[in-house]
Amino acid sequence: MKQLKVELGDRSYPIYIGAGLLEQAAAYFQQHGIGLKSPILIVSDDQVGPRYIDRVAGALREGGYIVATRIVPSGETSKSLAMLEELVSAGLEAGLDRSSTIVALGGGVVGDLAGFAAASYMRGIRFVQMPTTILAHDSSVGGKVAVNHPRAKNIIGAFHQPEFVLYDIATLQSLPPREVRAGLAELIKEGFILNRSFVEWFEAHADALLALEPEALEHALYEGCKVKAYVVSNDEREDGIRAWLNLGHTFGHAFEAVAGYGELLHGEAIAIGMVCAARLSVNLGNDPEIFTVTERALRKLGLQVRIPANLDVNDIMNVMMHDKKFREGQMVFIVPTEIGKVEINKQIASQSVRDVLEAMKGEA
Ligand code: NAD
Ligand code: GLY
Repeated sequence: MKQLKVELGDRSYPIYIGAGLLEQAAAYFQQHGIGLKSPILIVSDDQVGPRYIDRVAGALREGGYIVATRIVPSGETSKSLAMLEELVSAGLEAGLDRSSTIVALGGGVVGDLAGFAAASYMRGIRFVQMPTTILAHDSSVGGKVAVNHPRAKNIIGAFHQPEFVLYDIATLQSLPPREVRAGLAELIKEGFILNRSFVEWFEAHADALLALEPEALEHALYEGCKVKAYVVSNDEREDGIRAWLNLGHTFGHAFEAVAGYGELLHGEAIAIGMVCAARLSVNLGNDPEIFTVTERALRKLGLQVRIPANLDVNDIMNVMMHDKKFREGQMVFIVPTEIGKVEINKQIASQSVRDVLEAMKGEA
């Protein structure tokens, strides 16, 4: 088991990463001062719940806790106000009080939804993140919780930090291969942002990661969470460097939207977005290896590294101009300046963006 800490003063919390942690849930709850009197609500989705919720609920009950569970449909549509209301109803039915805890057992969808339910129930109760996807190394750390509005993603939300993150990597064995690759794209992103040697390690261990070898996974998630924890510890509310985490996202969000939500997984779109950000960087005069290394590493993870040929450049440009990262009339890009270093750039001319999009279209 590996452990690290998100440093936020009296709201600091640990991230525990290892195999078989779900079964030890009660010990972690006790260690974190969660008492036996107030009920706990575990929220999961219909893919994760049937596989793992009994393990967590059983372990907690054995430890003397009163536990209720709620399963939501898997997928982004569950991040809705309607589902939030359902969780509040479930909380009321289960008798959750101000000292209760909500547990998010699942990927980023469940983490964001259940986390927001915890942030709003009785104006805020405790919650614990139990991530079950690779991508959720990102979503489970840092306290951004939210649901979607039909017109905007993550627009109804809060900052609400968990008590701790219990990352049982054994759960990752049941992840569909496409989710594995998409999650690995977001994980290597942490290296591109802040840690060149992590990118090199990632390239050398791509096969082990794709095969979900536990040792490789544990190391990769530890290093990825370390970057995320560092960034959040230094900029909880995204006044500055937390925006680094959006590497590839200005491009990637537009690809997701233009392809039609659900066509490209988020991580798949971000992978292509990171290649585009690297191309942009080289076009601005930075070292050409930024592009070659980014493209090569993502290819090794089995990810697509070109914009799908059927996406129209004008449509992509349109969406990018309306992205929430389009601030004060300028598109905001996270531009890699070296492998392992990025800058926030608000001065990119729209023609430079268009040039990248045109150059990066294809089937490769
Ligand atoms: P997800 O939660 O939808 O999970 C992906 C799919 O895998 C789902 O179908 C799910 O049911 C299934 N699944 C999850 N764990 C599984 C397991 N162990 N075995 C088998 N199937 C499993 O998606 P995600 O990629 O984890 O997260 C995406 C969400 O995260 C988005 O809503 C995004 O906005 C959010 N996000 C939030 C933050 C943040 O800081 N809060 C950061 C990044 C992403
Ligand atoms: N966008 C991910 C984060 O800020 O945590």
